[in-house]
Amino acid sequence: METDFLVIGSGIAGLTYALKVAQDCPDKKITIFTKTTSDETNTKYAQGGVAGVIDQENDSFEKHIEDTLVAGDGLCNKKVVEIVVKEGVDRINEIIEWGARFDKEPDGDYALGKEGGHSEFRILHHKDVTGREMERALLETIRKKPNIEIITHCFVLDLITQHHLGYLVTKATPDIECYGVYALNLRSMKIEKIQSKITILATGGNGQVYRTTTNPYIATGDGVAMCYRAKGRIENMEFIQFHPTALYEAGVRGQAFLITEAVRGDGGILRNNSGEAFMERYDSRKDLAPRDIVARAIDSEMKRTGTEHVWLDCRHMDHEKFLHHFPNIYEKCLSKGIDITTSMIPVAPAAHYSCGGIKTDEWARTSIRNLFAAGECASTGLHGANRLASNSLLEAMVFAHRAYQESVATINQVTFRGAIPDWRVEGTAAPKEMILITQSLKELQLLMSDYVGIVRTNVRLARAMKRLDLLHEETENLYKSTEVSPQLCELRNMITVGYLIVKSAQFRHESRGLHYNTDYPGKSNIVQNIVL
Ligand code: FAD
Ligand code: SIN
Repeated sequence: METDFLVIGSGIAGLTYALKVAQDCPDKKITIFTKTTSDETNTKYAQGGVAGVIDQENDSFEKHIEDTLVAGDGLCNKKVVEIVVKEGVDRINEIIEWGARFDKEPDGDYALGKEGGHSEFRILHHKDVTGREMERALLETIRKKPNIEIITHCFVLDLITQHHLGYLVTKATPDIECYGVYALNLRSMKIEKIQSKITILATGGNGQVYRTTTNPYIATGDGVAMCYRAKGRIENMEFIQFHPTALYEAGVRGQAFLITEAVRGDGGILRNNSGEAFMERYDSRKDLAPRDIVARAIDSEMKRTGTEHVWLDCRHMDHEKFLHHFPNIYEKCLSKGIDITTSMIPVAPAAHYSCGGIKTDEWARTSIRNLFAAGECASTGLHGANRLASNSLLEAMVFAHRAYQESVATINQVTFRGAIPDWRVEGTAAPKEMILITQSLKELQLLMSDYVGIVRTNVRLARAMKRLDLLHEETENLYKSTEVSPQLCELRNMITVGYLIVKSAQFRHESRGLHYNTDYPGKSNIVQNIVL
């Protein structure tokens, strides 16, 4: 198969990119691959909303830029922050034109919410299901474009580069090029070879590397792992954002339901087991301090009191307003026997967002030629050491747009490479027992949560690395001898991502933003990104 533009991922980044390219180049073929259904993405689960300077009377670009820089704790690329904040408003207006509906006040102005780290009300939202609404609007618009094809249940395995043509490719190789991908068609279970002129990774996050996460099961860091295997540059992987308030359910592993930060923006208060509103002891911004601070405070309260969660108190809030803004959360809590008007919600931090990822420049170009990256899998320089709430949907749209501009400007200089060998399957057999994969996955998630969570130490990181080495060795042996399956490939990718997180954490000899190591509690004077 050949396609002009190959888009891997059908979340906000992939869909925005595809739509823009399709509008600009009606004669070119755009193919989107997604590993499950077209809407099963992190995007679908976004609750709080998208940040943007919409209220230009009370808010300003300068304030949004400053809030982003403060949250990023000295590691944001200021130029990129300015680009995203300033261009973001046009991108928001575009998605509104494509049909996304954001809540309005009775007077017709947009109802703007507030979240941790924001100095102004600037979060556009659709109830508490903003991502679902944005995804809907994008998918509906895309379905009207005849030159876009979405291929679901297609698991991309690896990027094709000179390595597959028999050349030695290392990190030092100049001009590594991407010629397309190998992908496992989950319907036919056949491995296909797809040649593309331009490829974009829009594969989302990696929350599934941890035991509990707000991310759905697709979030296994495939794009980052693929790019790393292809010798692309990966940056700042140690900065994993833990959302302070995921619904706590005893014994639940995997995806946890999020209680959006917007609930605290509307007045929700965190309390410990004794009922104390403890955030005032940690930060003058209390419950609306940036996420790293709130998550660490909760972690410390849980450890101090020996509990597995704290409480989010909404009992004093205007119930009608709550129901209007957060109907999904209200229903979910009720289904678990929690009436938020009379009971507090048990919450605990859960892995939520990967601030680092595939290193890109300001045009979303990766270190590999003809390969772009956008959305959560990319590290653009916007988030630095900690992402400001609701900046990721914005970033995804801005960089999808920039990737589109750059790729349509260059596509005519690119030709199909041709003569690419088929995927080699000799010597592999059907898997004998899935337990080898599922047990390794559990081990990985446990070790990452126990040793590489909110608070880290040198000893914990060293232990994590030792165990990862063993998991890596066992999984590579399995991979070499077994027919590929999404489960095995995801495990392999998550082990790579775990390795990248731990290695970057070990290189950072300081505590900054989301990376907190008790052996290096202060900040270093040398401000640097960790690139692997
Ligand atoms: P995704 O939307 O995750 O899409 C990834 C796509 O890649 C999927 O289609 C998947 O199938 C595909 N894919 C992955 N690997 C492969 C493979 N190997 N082969 C083929 N396809 C593959 N951000 C905000 O700004 N505001 C919010 O309010 C907000 N709330 C959030 C709430 C929750 C519960 C979560 C989980 C995240 C939230 N975020 C929020 C973060 C934000 O939703 C994500 O960062 C963003 O949606 C990521 O978009 P994306 O396009 O990069 O990836
Ligand atoms: C939330 O709604 O709390 C999540 C917002 C985000 O992750 O940006």
